[in-house]
Amino acid sequence: MLLKIDRFSPKPLYQQVIDGIKNLVDQGTMGVDQPLPATRILAKKLGVNRSTVVRAYEELQALGYLKSRPGSYNRVQKRRKEVEYDPARTSLLDWDKISNSQSRKLYKIFLRYSPERPQDIKIREDAINISQLDLDPRLYPMKEFQRCVNHVLNNSGPDSLQYGAHKGYPPLRQLIARRLRLHSISVSGEEILITNGAQQAIDLLIRVLSGPGEKIAVESPTYANVIPILQFSGAKILGIPMRKDGMDLNFLESVLNRERVSFVYTIPNFQNPTGITTSHPHREKLLNVCLRHKVPIVEDGFEEDMKYFGKVPLPIKSIDEKNIVIYLGTFSKALFPGLRIGWITADKDCINRATALKRFSDLTSGNLSQIILHEFLNRGYYDLHLKRLHRVFRKRMQVALQTMENCFPDAVTWTRPSGGYTIWVKMPLKLDEHQLHGFMARYGVVVSPGRYYFPNRLSSEYIRISIARIDEKEIREGISRLGEALRELSKGSQR
Ligand SMILES: Cc1ncc(COP(=O)(O)O)c(C=O)c1O
Repeated sequence: MLLKIDRFSPKPLYQQVIDGIKNLVDQGTMGVDQPLPATRILAKKLGVNRSTVVRAYEELQALGYLKSRPGSYNRVQKRRKEVEYDPARTSLLDWDKISNSQSRKLYKIFLRYSPERPQDIKIREDAINISQLDLDPRLYPMKEFQRCVNHVLNNSGPDSLQYGAHKGYPPLRQLIARRLRLHSISVSGEEILITNGAQQAIDLLIRVLSGPGEKIAVESPTYANVIPILQFSGAKILGIPMRKDGMDLNFLESVLNRERVSFVYTIPNFQNPTGITTSHPHREKLLNVCLRHKVPIVEDGFEEDMKYFGKVPLPIKSIDEKNIVIYLGTFSKALFPGLRIGWITADKDCINRATALKRFSDLTSGNLSQIILHEFLNRGYYDLHLKRLHRVFRKRMQVALQTMENCFPDAVTWTRPSGGYTIWVKMPLKLDEHQLHGFMARYGVVVSPGRYYFPNRLSSEYIRISIARIDEKEIREGISRLGEALRELSKGSQR
């Protein structure tokens, strides 16, 4: 057997024996069933310890290159060659064909949905992106968070790295329950399920409460990332038009008179995308409609902590005597989206059902991040951070609205949010997504096309802008450029 050993190589001797024999087998120099020399003989021939050869043979057996029978020689075994990485390799399987039809549709949306812009549109280097709805990382309280990370790792090390409770870290749940009292929601930690962001909360609720062919009512427009998972679930989406003061409740009532609906999904504060906040009477009326029809409300309070102008009505959940409201929250919008910590609070029976589904989907959310977040909240860092955030965004929103007032043409209308990040702008013309991105790119600004937010995803004359990630200077410049683009568009609409 042609095996060479290099005593000066950094590669261990047993590994050299393994690689040498693997090569002989892969190249066909050693055929199937060919016996290998006894370990003593090969060791002598190579001038190595017998234990080196014994270890090499054992590993080759584990890798499937050799088989051994008691009292007999090791023999070469037939085995497929290991496949080397090749980025051009394709699969025998047609994944599109064998995927289920719902996931095929979801994948098509995923490929088409580009939150920024199509690849073929060139964008100026100094373009300002006023489309993103995640908090400006320049405002992250990094020092304080770092302190909590160190504290947790120093004090609860291994414990924080174990699987956590299915509902989430109990002290964090209790703290969230305490914080909810600030919004007049009275619940216990037992009625809270920690989720991987509000997104997972929505996904779990769709799966617990609805099924293929069933109907779910949502505001139209609504949060864009909810539409694909609703479609994936096989549910039929009933879009309830948004008016200036929130979803059209007469329309909802007429739908509920005709149809059995699994739940009504609503975002009462700083709605994504419109920025609309509903009034207290609107909230009461929505609750009454749903009580009459015995339909649960999923209230998405994703930006509950972003009430920087004050004077925002309390959540629907705070007046929910009959426990039909399921309330969602998240730390993504006012803290770190990368933490992936959100929660659901609802009637205990509903929470337990969502917990069961979460348990069998992903066991539990990350324990370490929950413990660190609990430390962060407990030290009062979050409240200090919110105070700063409110100061910053009060100013940013005022600057945004004033700049729009100054430079948008008369034909354009927009919402005036009382908190949060998004503003909904109605242009004088309907543009398809590609036209819109191309047109805005010429003016060095990126916006989010309105069609993403409508359940039917048709072209629309709306765009969503967001002040979450840009400072006052960027807001002034970005919105002025958008104003220039809209003035040009208005001329076009009058021709
Ligand atoms: C209305 C709304 N709900 C839920 C989410 C999901 O947030 P999370 O990061 O907590 O999953 C978002 C994210 O943008 C949102 O806009």
